[in-house]
Amino acid sequence: MAAREWKLRSFIVAIMIVTTLITVFLVSAAVLLLRIPVIEAENQREVQLHANEYAAHVQVLLGGIESRLDVLANTHARLSPSQFEALLEQMAQGTRGIHALYLVARDGTVVAAGLGDNVEIFRGDILGSDLSATPLFRRVIDRGQRQWSDTYLSALSGNLTVGLATPAGPNHVLIGEVPLASVLDTVKMLARKYAPPLWVLDSRGEVMIETGNGPRAGRSNLKGLPILQAAGDGEARTADLEFGGKRYHAGVAYSEALHWHFVTTTPAGLDNPRVLSTVLIVIGAFGVAILVSIFLSPTWAQQLAAPLDRIVAQARETAQGGNGRWPRGRIAELNALSADLESMAGALRELNVELEHRVEKRTQALAESNESLSNTLARLEQAQHELVRAEKMAALGGLVAGVAHELNTPIGNGLMAVSTLSDQAREFRRTMQEGLRRSDLEHLLGSVEQATDIAARNLSRAADLVTSFKQVAVDQASSQRRRFELAEVVGEIAVTLGPSLKRTPYVLTTNVPAGLALDSYPGPLGQTLANLINNALLHAFDGRDAGHVHIAARLADDGMIEVDVTDDGKGIPAGLIGRIFDPFVTTRMGRGGTGLGLHIAYNAVTHVLGGSLQVDSAEGQGAHFRLRLPAVAPAAAAGDIHEV
Ligand SMILES: Nc1ncnc2c1ncn2[C@@H]1O[C@H](COP(=O)(O)OP(=O)(O)OP(=O)(O)O)[C@@H](O)[C@H]1O
Ligand SMILES: [Mg+2]
Repeated sequence: MAAREWKLRSFIVAIMIVTTLITVFLVSAAVLLLRIPVIEAENQREVQLHANEYAAHVQVLLGGIESRLDVLANTHARLSPSQFEALLEQMAQGTRGIHALYLVARDGTVVAAGLGDNVEIFRGDILGSDLSATPLFRRVIDRGQRQWSDTYLSALSGNLTVGLATPAGPNHVLIGEVPLASVLDTVKMLARKYAPPLWVLDSRGEVMIETGNGPRAGRSNLKGLPILQAAGDGEARTADLEFGGKRYHAGVAYSEALHWHFVTTTPAGLDNPRVLSTVLIVIGAFGVAILVSIFLSPTWAQQLAAPLDRIVAQARETAQGGNGRWPRGRIAELNALSADLESMAGALRELNVELEHRVEKRTQALAESNESLSNTLARLEQAQHELVRAEKMAALGGLVAGVAHELNTPIGNGLMAVSTLSDQAREFRRTMQEGLRRSDLEHLLGSVEQATDIAARNLSRAADLVTSFKQVAVDQASSQRRRFELAEVVGEIAVTLGPSLKRTPYVLTTNVPAGLALDSYPGPLGQTLANLINNALLHAFDGRDAGHVHIAARLADDGMIEVDVTDDGKGIPAGLIGRIFDPFVTTRMGRGGTGLGLHIAYNAVTHVLGGSLQVDSAEGQGAHFRLRLPAVAPAAAAGDIHEV
């Protein structure tokens, strides 16, 4: 298949756009493939950092509360009960994050309490109450060191609260109640600072706070999340979560004091604004690059193609005979091309002039040789005409000589007989004067009879020769043309020759199918067949006591009619067969043969019937004459007389 033909400009534009597309595509793909994992890793690191940050802040807050409680516990032994109670009161009211402090005896009885302003009214209920059954109290007694409780509903405020308990000397336990809200307020404050959504889960996995548009998706207990379990084992790590068909990076930090989890999330993949913006920037850059290449490439293509166009235009102008300036531009190769073409055009012009000059010279030489050729041709034609005429004259001369020679014998014989007769008459007259005897008269009569007989025979022979000779010039115009059946003509000949054949031991048979119709000259055809049959009887069977002549005809494949005349006679010697159709060729010279029979037949077949006559024979093998005739003979040319 032939490759499509492009215009240079379109080709350059296409190449540029395709190159830009491929390049920008590869660069974009590389950017996305390399950059997005980095962004994702950064996001992951960031959410983890935030989670840690939350946990650390809460730890600081709780640490502050712990150290205050430790200080208080340490001062218990050094102060009197009333002094200590006053201190408790002062601490409970003045410390942010603690709204009640209890001093509990080892048996669980609350012996002193410091209460914040808003819970002061419950003092009567609190003092003397028994906390020995509370899990926090039990844990402190069992382990002998500081413990945090799970969240619970405060009996004082009715709010969610966490408790911190620490031993105060060997016989007491100091318990502080910290309202959850005060811890969570710190977290919320931080959440305002850090953007990623945050959950704070208590030790049971309950979501205590959720900020931003986190992916909790209606779940409030997230204890089952594998990430929490991993974090609970002490290893804080990031992981991916899936909620509502979306993926999130999550960072988890674990706070040991309260067994809380701080979980921060940020959407992963395209939902993440950073990833999305990177992708959008890349797509935008891709689009811009394509637009730029679409807008700029035609201009660049124009810059490249225009000088070439100018060179092509100049080449065309030069080809049409123009002589303008060859253009030069800014591209070195095109300038070189232009310069080369310019020198080539110059060389061509010179060559052209030289060529024209040469053509002119050749044309002149040709005209001269043409003239001499036509002169030669004219001379040749003239010579040809002369030759033809000479040939005709020679042929005619030969014929006349032949005829003269042939006529010479009978006429000479006749003349001799007549002059003998004349001598005899003169002799008779002389004898008559001397006296006429009967014997003289009888002698004269005998001589007269002999001479007249010789003269008559020879004159008849001469007459025959002339008749034959007249036939040599067979004239179409004098022959009658008509439509006839071949079988008819052959049948007539057989009938005509019948009587003379009967007197000989020879046989003639025919095999001519009916329906072989010709539009031709039956006269010359009949004459030809009669000649061939007569020749067989005369020459082929000469001295034989049996012989068979057969005439057969058929329609050949090419539409010609073939007639075969065969005999089983002695055949024609090789030395004779090549000349057999020439005039005066005979083996019966002086014995009735003129040698014109086959010549006449040949002329009639070739010139009048428009066919061909061939002979095929070998000595002792019989002879086979073959005629091929067209069913329709050619039209007679007016006055066309065929001689020789
Ligand atoms: N069928 C034949 N078999 C053998 N020889 C033949 C046969 N036909 C022709 N010839 C030879 O060809 C010679 C030429 O024949 P052609 O008919 O021209 O002349 P011709 O028969 O001798 O004389 P004409 O026909 O003029 O009386 C003959 O003398 C004879 O020797
Ligand atoms: Mg003959």
